[in-house]
Amino acid sequence: MSSHSPEPRAFDNSQTFPPSPTTRQGRGLSRRAALIGLGASGLGIWFWTRSSGESLIPALSGSRSMTQPSVLSSEDGILELTLRAEASQIPWRDGTRFALTYNGGTTGPTLQIRPGDKLIIHLENELEEKTNLHTHGLHVSPEGNADNVFVSIPPGETFTYEYDIPLSQRSGMFWYHPHDHGTVAKQVAGGLAGVILVRDSLDDLPWLAQSTERVLVLSDPPIGSDSRILDVGGMDAMAGRQGDAVLVNGVQAPTMTTEVGKLERWRMVNASSSRYYRLALTEHQLHLIGTDGGRLSEPRPVSDLLLAPGERIEFGITPEKAGEYELRALPYDRGGMGMGGMMGNRGDAGGSTDLTIAILSVTGTGPAASLPNQIDPEANPGLLEPTAKRVLTLGMGMGGMMGGGMSFTIDGNAFDGARTDSRVRFETVEEWEIVNTTPMDHPFHLHVWPFVLANDVNAGWKDTINVPANRSVKILVPFIGLMGRTVYHCHILDHEDLGMMGTIEVRES
Ligand code: C2O
Ligand code: CU
Ligand code: CU
Repeated sequence: MSSHSPEPRAFDNSQTFPPSPTTRQGRGLSRRAALIGLGASGLGIWFWTRSSGESLIPALSGSRSMTQPSVLSSEDGILELTLRAEASQIPWRDGTRFALTYNGGTTGPTLQIRPGDKLIIHLENELEEKTNLHTHGLHVSPEGNADNVFVSIPPGETFTYEYDIPLSQRSGMFWYHPHDHGTVAKQVAGGLAGVILVRDSLDDLPWLAQSTERVLVLSDPPIGSDSRILDVGGMDAMAGRQGDAVLVNGVQAPTMTTEVGKLERWRMVNASSSRYYRLALTEHQLHLIGTDGGRLSEPRPVSDLLLAPGERIEFGITPEKAGEYELRALPYDRGGMGMGGMMGNRGDAGGSTDLTIAILSVTGTGPAASLPNQIDPEANPGLLEPTAKRVLTLGMGMGGMMGGGMSFTIDGNAFDGARTDSRVRFETVEEWEIVNTTPMDHPFHLHVWPFVLANDVNAGWKDTINVPANRSVKILVPFIGLMGRTVYHCHILDHEDLGMMGTIEVRES
């Protein structure tokens, strides 16, 4: 197969392979990141450059097939498992690479549960630093030993999480990852992530049950032989680190095979710490059928769709003729920390991703599969009347990182777990306007309570929404079902670690 020959623009010939941490470090320095003072007016005072575009390791030619993470399913209302977080050497090309793993896999096991289930996870911390676990998107309690991000598990210790999945939990794709403030970006970039699929009677509908469902975990780890690959400089952290290769379930540019007449259903999560993917499939429309918080009421045809870190989407694909098609990441500029067009520099935060993510190989002839007109009749939120309005301002200011760089803030404050930033009355609907005052995009994420977009309430339930540079987004959040204290933050995880996170407490009065 020749359709996915190496990406010429991305290949750095000077790079030895696999890169040792030393060559990697050298390449990092050659990026010539520059922090230059230009005056005293807030954000306008500095910019940075890189000596060249980003170097991504190209995929080898020859086809590798798509793999799926292992699956653990609940039985009789319970799923109990152990997740061991540890440093591992995992297979990579002809050798191995360093990674952080759950139970040794390039992706953690996929957990299949149903509304009403109990999920029990014994998290063994075999890392050299503290960690914890977050169930991103699940409508479960954020307190006690449930989805409590304020818990911190020291190295060598085990903590038992117990989640009561409410009957009101919508079916959909969620995911788990570490959430211990200060180490989240490196632990997720290292490989700690896995998928949670909540299934209900919707999944038993024949058209869904008979389609080919695939889980696609998009990651972009740093590639190297030891843990030094997880250390990045201040500039990379401020931009949001991007890794050396884009992988799907741990494999570079894997091939999926199918036949004309079959409905493909791809459930994708962006588990990269910072990288954005603007997804398109050559010669095909994608039919969006699900978002972060479950299925849409009706499929929406799209030619391409942006998947920011933390977000999920579910696509239906109906191939019409045999051939090889590429799932592409198209260029997208998520902005940089600086002067925009000044000096011809786009101020690109980490390089725009433009590559083949996976291949769809189609054989056979005949009529194409079709999608029903209705997906989930209960998906639309109906009338949501906000009783309170709140504005949250995402900002960057001088003086973070011991005076040497920027601090990342919400409403002017860097994260402090002891402070409560937003107090919300239980069983109210709030309208939140998320204002981005910075020249780079930030994916805003709220734990526990899914929301809809104020200007398109039928676009699906979300828990993470990209707020483009210098723009704002309005969301409607029903604070129902659960009370508790938790967080919202930027899902460029380096920004979260640098302080762009706030706390929220939802109580009856
Ligand atoms: Cu995916 Cu607060 O995280
Ligand atoms: Cu989350
Ligand atoms: Cu951010």
